[in-house]
Amino acid sequence: MRTLIMCLSVLSIAPAMAQDAARGQHLFMADGCYECHGTVGQGGAAAPKLAPDPLPAEAIAHYIRHPAAVMPPYVETLVGDADVRDIQAYLASLPQPKPLNDIPLLAR
Ligand code: HEC
Repeated sequence: MRTLIMCLSVLSIAPAMAQDAARGQHLFMADGCYECHGTVGQGGAAAPKLAPDPLPAEAIAHYIRHPAAVMPPYVETLVGDADVRDIQAYLASLPQPKPLNDIPLLAR
């Protein structure tokens, strides 16, 4: 019984838990964001870069539901607020690129 109560209390706090970057990475792939933005949000010919230094989750949520131009819209029932927070956590977890001066060909 005590175990059951412990399990239930863990489940009930789960939605309020911190963002999950690993789940966000999965969603970034499963929802197809990577197809245009690149697997690490680096951007390319099809879409702008999203990481490192991503927009806040609220801005991402607003944008993907009301994209300005070519990007297809993602309704809230498909990518909910919790999903966006995890995607943002994934993008925020990505490392900064090397400083330009550490790349011999680009060193000034
Ligand atoms: C079919 C290609 C495509 C897919 C799939 C796609 N995007 Fe985009 N995205 C774009 C393009 C192109 C833009 C540039 C503006 C525009 O055309 O809407 C953009 C812009 C954005 C921006 C605004 C960036 C900025 O700095 O202004 C965000 C945030 C974004 N996308 C997030 C996402 C997320 C999160 C997903 C997955 C849920 C996703 N996109 C899936 C093509 C795509």
